Amino acid sequence: MDRERLAQEIRKIKREKDVIILAHFYTDPEVQDLADYLGDSLGLSQMAANTEAQIILFCGVKFMAETASIISPSKRVLLPDMTAGCSLAESIKATDIIAWREKNPDGVVVSYVNTTAEVKAQTDICCTSANAIEVIKSIPEGKKIFFVPDKHLASYVKIMTGRDIEIWDGDCCVHEYYSTKLVLEEASNYPDAELLIHPESSCSHDPEIYKKPNSYILSTTGMIKRVGESPAKQFLVVTEPGVIHQMKKLYPDKEFIPCDIYNECLQMRKITLRAMLTSLQEEIYEVKVPEDVRVRAYPSIEKMLAINLGKG
Ligand code: 13P
Ligand code: SF4
Repeated sequence: MDRERLAQEIRKIKREKDVIILAHFYTDPEVQDLADYLGDSLGLSQMAANTEAQIILFCGVKFMAETASIISPSKRVLLPDMTAGCSLAESIKATDIIAWREKNPDGVVVSYVNTTAEVKAQTDICCTSANAIEVIKSIPEGKKIFFVPDKHLASYVKIMTGRDIEIWDGDCCVHEYYSTKLVLEEASNYPDAELLIHPESSCSHDPEIYKKPNSYILSTTGMIKRVGESPAKQFLVVTEPGVIHQMKKLYPDKEFIPCDIYNECLQMRKITLRAMLTSLQEEIYEVKVPEDVRVRAYPSIEKMLAINLGKG
């Protein structure tokens, strides 16, 4: 079956069954083009919370599908490839948090949403790259905070908030690559470009980077918004290059330069049209968080979503 036929079949089954397709900006452009909703981790969580559809086809990685299952337990959440994981989510276990709590009984655990359901079940409040600073500011002053698992996002947030944060030593294998040296070298080739940098990048908390007048540390949705607001015509995009597909669609008169076009998240890219079709046809692979874990994990996500609704 060629691509067009695969896409037609996916659309047909979607109409026949009560399905919503959610996709992250790091998936393949042809997957993005079939999504009912495309977003960053925060937007996808919000959409999973609000959809009426009975089946969510989640085009992303496993922790995202688990988050949808935690928020919407009555829905069937399908992940087209069950092996689509995340180096960050795999870097920390629930027992690591339990051990920290034993030493810091009054501390607050903040987990980046890129964590397993078991880790979320031990967490006080989740955050994404779009709301991490707001989440930290919502915690009473003087509390010790344990931020897991991304050390670069945590270091950036620690500088921006000045709070007492202990940092777990995890990183994203895609964003670790974006060092200060690499980014400054690339930027020197495009002196008029704005720099859009994801906070998971290893350079994000280096003053040489975040203090540059033309650099913006943003989530993927934040980057797209910035392009719309900015007078600049050229952007150096320091994150997984999949996000450029939407930027080009929305702003065809602007130019987007990937910091490295080949630095793709191979886990996100496991979601193919073929895998989506099989998943819809056979209603596999369902991601279902066990109820005892789900009820303990849910409040950490609920609190995060409440902050973003201005209720927190
Ligand atoms: P966003 O928070 O911008 O969605 O990106 C984080 C990420 O790496 C998703 O896996
Ligand atoms: Fe995980 Fe990094 Fe891929 Fe996001 S880009 S899913 S953090 S490995």
